[in-house]
Amino acid sequence: MESEYYIGIMSGTSLDGVDAVLVDFGDNHRASCIETFFSPFDNTLRSRLLALHHSGEDELNKAALISNQLSHQYARAVTHLLIDSALAPRNVIAIGCHGQTVRHCPEIDQRYTIQLVNAALLAELTEITVIADFRSRDLAAGGQGAPLVPAFHKAMFMDSNSRRIIMNIGGIANLTYLDAKKPVSGFDCGPGNLLMDAWCLQHTGQSYDKNGQWAATGQVIPALLERFLSADFFTCAPPKSTGRDLFNFKWLEGHLQGNESPEDVQATLMQLTITSITHSIKQLYPAVEAVYVCGGGAHNLQMMNHLKNALSDMKVAVTDELGVQADWVEACAFAWLARQAILKQPGNIPSVTGAKEERILGAIYSA
Ligand SMILES: Nc1ncnc2c1ncn2[C@@H]1O[C@H](COP(=O)(O)OP(=O)(O)OP(=O)(O)O)[C@@H](O)[C@H]1O
Ligand SMILES: [Mg+2]
Repeated sequence: MESEYYIGIMSGTSLDGVDAVLVDFGDNHRASCIETFFSPFDNTLRSRLLALHHSGEDELNKAALISNQLSHQYARAVTHLLIDSALAPRNVIAIGCHGQTVRHCPEIDQRYTIQLVNAALLAELTEITVIADFRSRDLAAGGQGAPLVPAFHKAMFMDSNSRRIIMNIGGIANLTYLDAKKPVSGFDCGPGNLLMDAWCLQHTGQSYDKNGQWAATGQVIPALLERFLSADFFTCAPPKSTGRDLFNFKWLEGHLQGNESPEDVQATLMQLTITSITHSIKQLYPAVEAVYVCGGGAHNLQMMNHLKNALSDMKVAVTDELGVQADWVEACAFAWLARQAILKQPGNIPSVTGAKEERILGAIYSA
């Protein structure tokens, strides 16, 4: 068996940091995760990135500078992977780098998405071919530009004998429905961790609620949950995708009356994530047999227990059972998308994104 190494780099809407993976596709095209590396964002970088989600003074210059800074951090992650695996840049075919989303506007009157990264600089620093800007081509072809991971989920996790959902709970929660007898479907369900993280930081100073322990001290406020769930996004039919453009602190605050206790709000935000996921599954995929969770939300024990209770008529597990650890599925997907680009194979699924046809995704910056 000849190795076929790619690197995937993902930094998602949670703004927690950079997930980087070295993946070998040499064994019958299956993704075998060889090395992983996580590099957290410091608070200054995180707050600068958050600020760039809105218009502001000198934003083009700031975005360009932060793209350079991100690219240096991505390159350091690549160096770690190479050292840990004793590989040289020439052994790696390409890096698939998602970049940092600061705008995602798939609406018909806007139709653009921005992921910050200086891919030319990353190719220069790593001496490895870099593929970036995966989403724009799908948007140009009439799609949402998201979610893109379902094609990878299909390639890795489709099983002819069972109906499965791959449920990623990152900053945003997105699912993929896999049934060998039907076209793949998938969409963003709504907020995953990002509103819980924002509320937790504001009231406890912690960047996330470890294991959902703080949320567990509060009570769900039914009226607040109902107000959250009345947003058009939840009733709108797929294809659909979202991000911080909609689900942000201002959106959260706009639903509060001001007399709620912080822990009750946290419990309600966790319930919002759970309810939007379980509604999506029960309404659209009543015949599903198993739900495999990935993303940082898989570590939230409280949330996982509530999910298992709400979906008691199906199996709920983590993707580790399918051979890819929950923390690394998204980064592996971008290694796979880089491989698709190099092989001139499509990376999108029109039944998921709404694009008129399949497209080869990403711009190539050769080593
Ligand atoms: N032990 C834990 N308890 C509760 N929440 C956790 C725990 N570990 C991680 N998380 C949550 O997971 C988040 C990070 O998840 P992840 O990296 O999957 O999101 P992301 O970067 O937005 O990724 P993507 O956009 O690729 O889905 C953290 O911000 C935090 O909210
Ligand atoms: Mg992350």
